[in-house]
Amino acid sequence: MKSILIIEDDPLVRKTLASQLGKKGFEVATADTGEGGVRAFAESCPDLVLLDLRLPDIDGLEVLRKIKERNRRAIILIMTAFDDMKTTVEAIKLGAFEYLVKPLNATELDLTIDKAFQVRALEEKVSYLVEEKKKEYTIDNIIGHSAGMRGVFKLIGSVANTRTNVLIQGESGTGKELVAKAIHYNGPCRDEPFIVINCCAISDTLLESELFGHVKGAFTDAVSETKGKFEIAGKGTLFLDEVGDVSPNLQSKLLRISETRDFMKVGGEKVLKTEARIIAATNQNLKGLIEKGKFREDLYYRLKVVEITLPPLRERREDIPDLVAYLLEKINRDLRRNVRKVPPEVMKILVEIPWRGNVRELENALTRAVILAKGDVVLKENLPLEPDERRSFGDDLVPLEEVEKKYIQYVLGSVKGSKTRASQILQISRPTLDKKIKEYGLDLGEPS
Ligand SMILES: Nc1ncnc2c1ncn2[C@@H]1O[C@H](COP(=O)(O)OP(=O)(O)OP(=O)(O)O)[C@@H](O)[C@H]1O
Ligand SMILES: [Mg+2]
Repeated sequence: MKSILIIEDDPLVRKTLASQLGKKGFEVATADTGEGGVRAFAESCPDLVLLDLRLPDIDGLEVLRKIKERNRRAIILIMTAFDDMKTTVEAIKLGAFEYLVKPLNATELDLTIDKAFQVRALEEKVSYLVEEKKKEYTIDNIIGHSAGMRGVFKLIGSVANTRTNVLIQGESGTGKELVAKAIHYNGPCRDEPFIVINCCAISDTLLESELFGHVKGAFTDAVSETKGKFEIAGKGTLFLDEVGDVSPNLQSKLLRISETRDFMKVGGEKVLKTEARIIAATNQNLKGLIEKGKFREDLYYRLKVVEITLPPLRERREDIPDLVAYLLEKINRDLRRNVRKVPPEVMKILVEIPWRGNVRELENALTRAVILAKGDVVLKENLPLEPDERRSFGDDLVPLEEVEKKYIQYVLGSVKGSKTRASQILQISRPTLDKKIKEYGLDLGEPS
């Protein structure tokens, strides 16, 4: 049963309200002075307070302050007179949920109480979910005991409490985003936003406006002013994913913001400051890009104040059994299945597969095996083995074209449909890739 405390000096109003709310099924307590109200609040900790602003002893605003000091989340509804609007506005600023003008209208009172409880329930749900989300990014959820991963954990531990820029390098699917989140959620700014921006999935102009925001009229579609991710991230973290794909023009803007923290919105003239920490990631070899003149060396040094390199899964095969157990647990929970048994011969195959798409590919393979499983065992035939992974081409002699088709599809899957990345990996031009996608009717999946 929900409880309500009425703090009101007018006996008639107090009694009427008490009986009205009592009939609705609330547990009601009353107080006729401010001090008495604060005391009653401390004793009974009610779910909601109806507070009159004009009380005989202390000011209603003072009562509000004292209650909020005791419990920041207390729901307080103000009862006020028309000529008291200034104080009412003050009360709302101090955290009152809503105000009701006297004489109170019974329906309005009921609706406001309902709304207050609904909003509170939602707030509680949101804060529960936010806390749950944070738990997902504790270091415990990054699996690995290999020497390579132990080095990674050490680095996460030493940078989490700082605000330095971090550059995370590693092949696709090695856990770069996971590590970036672990750094953010284990640091002092864990309650601030963690904002991701994928630098390869969008055009240069759009990326600039996404990063820095734009003013109204900056370009044809700029109908109103917007904030960029550097502003939205506040004191939190901006995760610049696939930073190797940033154009030279934007690289110089990123250099400026990482040196001076200054930036301007697209089309704007005002110089703004960012407080966000930058964590950048790439699966490209930035040094190679620098040698080719495609990436600014000065920006590279700015970003890699601390550098974390994630080892590919095939170089830390000893981590695979633990990863399999962890991922199976996660997949079974998500899919509400119970496929947890992995026979030794299947584990042996899982450890031997080269996993070019790393942990993501392993996760996808296990998800598929769980979906296809009839009982509670991961079966060998449900693992997506490519011809070279079977270590035998004997039964699988296929035309070259088919291998090409499959391989392009595989690469597209590994880079989540990014044609730019796929054409770089395959070392073919974008038009050639487009032609092949069309010719083979390949699936791009969800680009990210
Ligand atoms: N060490 C690990 N322990 C547990 N899960 C992991 C680990 N590494 C990666 N994963 C999981 O693998 C998937 C891919 O990880 P993530 O997205 O962080 O990789 P990435 O390096 O950012 O890949 P990409 O370059 O393709 O963006 C995620 O579901 C992540 O939770
Ligand atoms: Mg990623």
